[in-house]
Amino acid sequence: MPTASPRHFLDLDVLDAATLRSIVDAAHAMKRAGKRVPAKMLPKDIADAVLVMIFEKPSTRTRVSFDVAMRQLGGQTIMLNHTDLQIGRGESIADTARVLSRYVDAIMIRANGHDTLNELARHATIPIINGLTDRSHPCQIIADIMTFEEAKGPIAGHSIAWVGDGNNVAASWMHAAVQFGFELRIGCPNSLRPDAAIEKWVQKNKGRLLITDNAQEAVLGADCVVTDTWVSMGDKDAERRKKLLKPYAVTDALMKKAGTDAIFMHCLPAYRGNEVTEQVLEGPQSVVFDEAENRLHAQKAILAWCLGA
Ligand code: CP
Ligand code: NVA
Repeated sequence: MPTASPRHFLDLDVLDAATLRSIVDAAHAMKRAGKRVPAKMLPKDIADAVLVMIFEKPSTRTRVSFDVAMRQLGGQTIMLNHTDLQIGRGESIADTARVLSRYVDAIMIRANGHDTLNELARHATIPIINGLTDRSHPCQIIADIMTFEEAKGPIAGHSIAWVGDGNNVAASWMHAAVQFGFELRIGCPNSLRPDAAIEKWVQKNKGRLLITDNAQEAVLGADCVVTDTWVSMGDKDAERRKKLLKPYAVTDALMKKAGTDAIFMHCLPAYRGNEVTEQVLEGPQSVVFDEAENRLHAQKAILAWCLGA
């Protein structure tokens, strides 16, 4: 049912901190509850709710975890490749948003360009969820914060080190540093720094952020080391990136510079031997498969919030 002001989940900088905290808390609770979500955590009329998922790029985790999450909440899903829609033949995003709003209850989109996401949200009367764009990946960071907290307790006041490309996932970590009150240290080549506008937003909002081109400096004493692929979907300069990012690979030697009980996270898919070694990815500090599992619990919490729980 369309609502007057839909609860979009577009980015971590445009939602308020209390809402985001409540979504992470709900994600922890969803995990404890398991497949059978207690009625008090469910949105009203969930059995009649349908989620449409639109993918302009490939996905394993986001695709399957959103689908399973919606089913476990008691709702239904429709999965679409963007080429299945008339968008592929030139129908506008605005008209698509208005039509889908008459049929279904929420849309999750993985879009090439962030503008597509914003355009959909501007014209939809149902919640729109960002399932990754070239700019950000907020659903991932809800799962990542949850994963950090399972291992080390409340994230506020801790230090997280991001090493590698200053990409879409890094951007959502930057938003989260402000909203959840932790220190973020980014080690990346100068030419692959995150968008300066996001850096400014963090500074304006008094976030604790260091951006350095020295990977060792970024990880020094950190509670968590995070990285991501060096070549994101849509990047055209793979060879240049691999050369630039070689000094930012997460190795045992780099992990030793972090805190003694630091954890290692990666949103996956991982490219062993590039951004992370096999030893670190499969080693005792790695929580990457808990992190992948937590996408499911996080999606349930995000969907429940968007649908009004
Ligand atoms: N981490 C993540 O979003 O994975 P997928 O691309 O497989 O969805
Ligand atoms: N930065 C990566 C994340 C994949 C989940 C990409 O955009 O391809």
